[in-house]
Amino acid sequence: MAREGRGEGTVASLPPDLASPSPQHLSPGTYDPALILETRELSLRFGGATIVDDVSFGVPEGLFVSIIGPNGAGKTSLFNLISGLYRPSSGHVLLRGRDITALPPFARVRQGLGRSFQLTTIFPGIPTLENAHLAAQAGGSGNFAFWRSAAANRAARERAAWALETVGLRGRERVLAGSLAHGDKRKLELALLICTEPAVLLLDEPTAGVSAEEVPVMLDVIRRIRQVEGKTILMVEHKMDVVHDLSDRVAVLANGALVAYDEPDAVMADPFVRSAYLGVA
Ligand SMILES: Nc1ncnc2c1ncn2[C@@H]1O[C@H](COP(=O)(O)OP(=O)(O)OP(=O)(O)O)[C@@H](O)[C@H]1O
Ligand SMILES: [Mg+2]
Repeated sequence: MAREGRGEGTVASLPPDLASPSPQHLSPGTYDPALILETRELSLRFGGATIVDDVSFGVPEGLFVSIIGPNGAGKTSLFNLISGLYRPSSGHVLLRGRDITALPPFARVRQGLGRSFQLTTIFPGIPTLENAHLAAQAGGSGNFAFWRSAAANRAARERAAWALETVGLRGRERVLAGSLAHGDKRKLELALLICTEPAVLLLDEPTAGVSAEEVPVMLDVIRRIRQVEGKTILMVEHKMDVVHDLSDRVAVLANGALVAYDEPDAVMADPFVRSAYLGVA
């Protein structure tokens, strides 16, 4: 079931700049080792509706890829397929070439796929630091036996404190998570995410609901996570200036289908994207 296709000889045929990391030319069972995450012909259908339509794309390791598209285009659904919340009607999700389509979400987290926690997964009645500690214990490379050791517990505490500092919540460790301001809760979500030591971070509209003054702060936090940890990030975001500023590649979804995938300037200049999404004639 799991395919370990590492290095199986298709690399040479790929464009050197990975500008069009379409996996179509890869035969099943092989993959490009530069791509940490791939979807292959991924579809999601509910009743008669096609929510995600045959999406194939690859995310090169270490890059920042944004997904844009109109409301209802299927962006969150695509994330749900990648993180394992939804099972696809057809197609595959690969992480480092391994087919993870059949794995439940928690197993994908163990494999290094981190999805931003929704506010509902924050425990409001316990302190911020304890929330982060729980996330550090639950994620990462450890198994439960490992986490029973005192040394591992200490490591989780250190990771939790580091994560809070990274997102700018130093000094708020003892505050009950439920008492944090909205912007700080969104930062806590990011802290919980990096506590699980993901190789790939999935961020669904990280600046949604964040006040105008706090948006640049959140962006700095995301940038810091990228710089400090060198992670691969896949982000859904509506704010085009944010997308342009942060992304190495931009994928455009429309009606569930991938209609463009390129560097930000190329995507923004694409006539179809300009008329269909940006509303520019
Ligand atoms: N669980 C579900 N059952 C039925 N339909 C769903 C389900 N989840 C999403 N949809 C539908 O799938 C389509 C895509 O929704 P999705 O939330 O993925 O879009 P989105 O691109 O994230 O939109 P937004 O920008 O508003 O967040 C919508 O028409 C939505 O109504
Ligand atoms: Mg959405």
